Amino acid sequence: MKDPKRNELVEELHRLMAEELEAFLRYFQLRYRLRGIDRLAAESFFDKTMQETLQHAEAIATHIRVLGETPKLSIKLEAGGGPVGLKGALADALIFEQQALDAYKDMLPRVEGDPGLEDFIRKQIATEIEHVQEITMLLE
Ligand SMILES: [Fe+2]
Repeated sequence: MKDPKRNELVEELHRLMAEELEAFLRYFQLRYRLRGIDRLAAESFFDKTMQETLQHAEAIATHIRVLGETPKLSIKLEAGGGPVGLKGALADALIFEQQALDAYKDMLPRVEGDPGLEDFIRKQIATEIEHVQEITMLLE
């Protein structure tokens, strides 16, 4: 019989993976709401953040595989809205990054004692703190 705590952990990892992929898709759409010079200014920022959200989702998927499960995905997402300025886009990005940070922080107590996962989640928290700080500085 499977350990219920372990099942719960796998479910949480699925949720985290979905959140990262959702952030990827939101960034994907947000990028096209920028116009002209704003688009140009934000291009490398969006390229980097999209790459990172994908890498994070991949890392989580790998952890799910290490636990002997196959990653599964459930996403319901609508991303809309018309043209947005650079500040507005960064304000949205700050929300995505803060949500990711909160999700990893919530996850930490569940993985304490699991050396591989605990280390991974702590690193993710440090990374997301950096992202939040980076965007906060851009918005100052
Ligand atoms: Fe991030």
